[in-house]
Amino acid sequence: MVTRFDLPAQFRWGVSTAAYQIEGAVAEDGRGPSVWDVFCERPGAVKGGESGRVACDHYHRYGEDVELMRELGVDGYRFSIAWPRIQPTGSGPANQPGLAFYDRLVDRLLAAGITPLPTLFHWDLPQALEETGGWLTRDTAHRFAEYTGLVADRLGDRVPAWITLNEPIVHLVFGYAFGIHAPGRTLMLDALPAAHHQLLAHGLAAAALRDRGHQVLIANNLTPVWAASDAPADVAAAEAYDALHNRLFTDPLLLGRYPDLSSYGLSEDLGGCVRPGDLELIAATPLDGLGVNYYNPTRIAAPTDPGLPFAEAEIEGVPRTHFGWPVVPEGLRELLVSLRERYGDALPPITITENGCSTAEGLDDQFRIGYLAGHLDAVAEAIAAGVDVRGYFTWSLMDNFEWAQGYGERFGLVEVDFETQRRTPRASYAWYREMIGARRSSRSRS
Ligand code: FCB
Repeated sequence: MVTRFDLPAQFRWGVSTAAYQIEGAVAEDGRGPSVWDVFCERPGAVKGGESGRVACDHYHRYGEDVELMRELGVDGYRFSIAWPRIQPTGSGPANQPGLAFYDRLVDRLLAAGITPLPTLFHWDLPQALEETGGWLTRDTAHRFAEYTGLVADRLGDRVPAWITLNEPIVHLVFGYAFGIHAPGRTLMLDALPAAHHQLLAHGLAAAALRDRGHQVLIANNLTPVWAASDAPADVAAAEAYDALHNRLFTDPLLLGRYPDLSSYGLSEDLGGCVRPGDLELIAATPLDGLGVNYYNPTRIAAPTDPGLPFAEAEIEGVPRTHFGWPVVPEGLRELLVSLRERYGDALPPITITENGCSTAEGLDDQFRIGYLAGHLDAVAEAIAAGVDVRGYFTWSLMDNFEWAQGYGERFGLVEVDFETQRRTPRASYAWYREMIGARRSSRSRS
């Protein structure tokens, strides 16, 4: 069996976070409201009526957080930039104090020997853009490219690579189809223009970044899809789910076309929002890397409700995280190998940009250690099977605002006491640090 110690010497280690989940300071230094600020105000939208108003107060405590990362020994830090700090109303000139925050953060990271890997959009759209249609509007894609240019011009002398979007599928489905995330729209299949416009935004931003000599990645949430049985109806449902969840945001980027969504009653132009030239533009800047966010496989059965061509089925007989998500490390190996099989040479090098679990409160998080070790073994096995995986960023550095779940799901290597903002490293932090340390010494020997 391949073990975690078979990872290549040059493998990059990191941790991930996102702006709205950690920063707080939502009304400071000219930041405008985002869709999440507004969504959190809706009665019943977020567990316990919580919000990211203070979160981990990272906006003020980033120095301490970078110090935690320096001690952890990571090579890279994936964080996100809050668009409403840069353009409080989603367009126009940059808000300089907002840019200055990320400038300080980047400098602090570099001084700690950590490579910054910013994500430009992790779901916190300026509310002003939501009011003109959000991602349902084509113009938002152009606004995103403009914002990208402002950020790249300021930080680009120190930031080599960028992630354009985080999990556009989750933003589409939770935010626009089911309304359980901001902006809380319940459009079901009428949400599809929000898929195309996110991809268009990626394409336009990717061109802006490449023009400035930068590397471009995107972080997709991907899942191996298991049919509930061999019955043709279950297999067809699994294919339909795979087309939506895995292919909708990866096929256009790597193959230049949308997957077949006819089982959803959708035409190739997604109901008319795809214009001539769009698909060429989306694929025009080849990705330097594909970010894979993996949490669990998905089991799919034939539909029970007429609205969608699939139904989700339980995965039985496996451990579950505090969130209730099934723990299936082999699913990550399966996913990585299937990406290689599906896309062949069109597949760029992969970085695991998120993987982790929520646990019950406490510092002795053996469950998390087991989760991480199992998934790293799966990565090692995928590499041994010929998949080019370059790095692993765990979700997350510290406990944070877990969207609609509020502060109830703790994903951190570092525990955060949200009353006092005290940070306390968990057992998994020490474990990750030792693992990275061991890799580093093998790196210097090789
Ligand atoms: C992912 C999100 C990330 C975090 C983890 C648990 O879908 O990208 O912000 O919430 O799930």
